[in-house]
Amino acid sequence: MTDPTTAPGRPQPSPAVLAGLARVEAAMRTSSAVLPDVLRRMPKAELHMHIEGSLEPELMFALAQRNGVSLPYPSVEALRAAYDFEDLQSFLDIYYAGASVLLTEQDFFDMAWAYLERAAADHICHTELFFDPQTHTARGVPMAVVVGGLSRACRQAREQLGVHASLILCFLRHLSEEEAFATLEAALPLREHWIGVGLDSSEVGHPPEKFARVFRRCRELGLRVVAHAGEEGPPAYVWSALDVLQVERIDHGVQSAQDPALMRRLAASRMPLTVCPLSNVKLCVFPAMHQHNLPALLETGLCITVNSDDPAYFGGYLNQNFLALFAALPLGPRDAWELAHNSFEAAFIDTTERTLRLQQLDAFFAHWQSAAA
Ligand code: ADE
Ligand code: ZN
Repeated sequence: MTDPTTAPGRPQPSPAVLAGLARVEAAMRTSSAVLPDVLRRMPKAELHMHIEGSLEPELMFALAQRNGVSLPYPSVEALRAAYDFEDLQSFLDIYYAGASVLLTEQDFFDMAWAYLERAAADHICHTELFFDPQTHTARGVPMAVVVGGLSRACRQAREQLGVHASLILCFLRHLSEEEAFATLEAALPLREHWIGVGLDSSEVGHPPEKFARVFRRCRELGLRVVAHAGEEGPPAYVWSALDVLQVERIDHGVQSAQDPALMRRLAASRMPLTVCPLSNVKLCVFPAMHQHNLPALLETGLCITVNSDDPAYFGGYLNQNFLALFAALPLGPRDAWELAHNSFEAAFIDTTERTLRLQQLDAFFAHWQSAAA
């Protein structure tokens, strides 16, 4: 039988990492706390997190009061109780309504800073934040206010938390390509503050090819390019994100498993998929965590990463995604190492930074000792 951990292109742990993994496995036989502790403390990158989706109800209500905005819910508890989604659209309706409290540069800073502090606590050393400028400019909030607040938080996170954070501007796919072009034009004067573009919002009925021209322009400008595809939409959307938009990562992509030829293409090219387990369960993409296809995707040799998507709405930040996934599925310490390795492999960082992060990851596992030893 072939060993699935040696599928072509899959990263292989060094002997020192393998020895550390063996110590973790031995310690797991006597304590169920070992693997969760490893998952929490290992260094990792987050590559798929919508900053507007990190707005916790408490901060949403505080900003509503600060700005004199009224919310259609009487309390934090009533709002949380409404987070019972049946699909992507039922979530997006509440998510866009929640973003209406964001008006000033300080609001955007406060939201991003709250996430970045959580990221530091989860041992995230590099994170790439999606933001949806059209949700704000449509309400009269200037692009400079949005980007100014978010980028100030990213700068401060590097200085005060040691967390490296970059911004990725997302076009809303339920709007037109002309509106995406206008958004790009408005953001280009602030180009030094963001690194690339993505495509999000309602997927089905809005295939990637709708944005072929604006993505071509973004590539010509030297921007990094990613797109949501195959979250609810068919494998055909993943093919066109690859072939028409020429993306460098697929956000979600879990529906690719329906198409063996697509799976071969993704594995052969090590095209990263930014998978979001709690999101997929909360939006009913999978009925339950134990039915998630992440282990199958990983075994096929795909470059799979774990991410939180919209943590304030889906029941947890990045470490909670790792914990829920590993509690429900047959995944072990080697998978933990590989998922963290993939997060740095797929990150938009230079070679020096990538080498450093991968060394830090390997050192964490190579030097791992049981707390009881
Ligand atoms: N915007 C925020 N979260 C999203 C998701 N999971 N899919 C598409 N668009 C989004
Ligand atoms: Zn997303």
